[in-house]
Amino acid sequence: MRRYLVAGNWKLNMGPAAGRELAEGVSGLLRGRELKGDVLVCPPYVSLPAVAEVAQGDPVLLGAQNCADQAGGAYTGEVSAEMLAEAGCQYVIVAHSERREYQKETDDMFVAKIDLIHKAGLKAIFCFGEVIGERKSGRAQEVVKAQLEGVLPRLEFVNAYNTVLAYEPVWAIGTGETATSEIAQEMHAYSRQVLAGVLGQEVADYMRILYGGSCKPGNARELIGLPDVDGGLIGGASLKPADFVGIIDGAEAAQG
Ligand code: PGA
Repeated sequence: MRRYLVAGNWKLNMGPAAGRELAEGVSGLLRGRELKGDVLVCPPYVSLPAVAEVAQGDPVLLGAQNCADQAGGAYTGEVSAEMLAEAGCQYVIVAHSERREYQKETDDMFVAKIDLIHKAGLKAIFCFGEVIGERKSGRAQEVVKAQLEGVLPRLEFVNAYNTVLAYEPVWAIGTGETATSEIAQEMHAYSRQVLAGVLGQEVADYMRILYGGSCKPGNARELIGLPDVDGGLIGGASLKPADFVGIIDGAEAAQG
């Protein structure tokens, strides 16, 4: 049985004061509860220290939204995986579609980042997913296969525990249009099959694959309850404690 992970991706929202308040809201609602899975919040870099005071793994874990593809040196504006580990992070998100699109990040960069994340003792959440035109032209599986095969076989330390995948159909991100259960299960099962081909059946059986894209309290239980969906990567709905915890409640119910 794979433990669920519900991860909040705060994106470019929540400075230190607001971030701390949000984390306090979430951990307040979860206090005293024994969860069957893992809960993670990923604030902007500058808010990590403030949120770290609240999110100390009991039960809320701390993660970052990005890291440098270099270990250190003359790279102005960058933050390394090592620094994130020191700041109290356990996870780092890599290859989010917004970074693929706006920062033009490439497979080579994802490989470098994930290797550095693993070297720092952290877990990577590797995002992938097709855009609407690719789905409409019947190429969704082909695109997802290329995204997974372009990165996973090249990683030095990857295993089922230090890496989480996140299938995020780009047309569902921030649009309110969630993937149907049929699409989500089909794409997750297909991704797991690609994963088995690349890293072997055992890794594929144990590695968690999250769903991301307009996940909310009303659909979390159904989505996370699908056989190959092991949690959610949550954008908009992670910014309000009640909504985020509503999704965690859905995951708890789905875990059975
Ligand atoms: P959303 O974002 O939940 O706002 O659709 C998900 C994500 O981008 O990770």
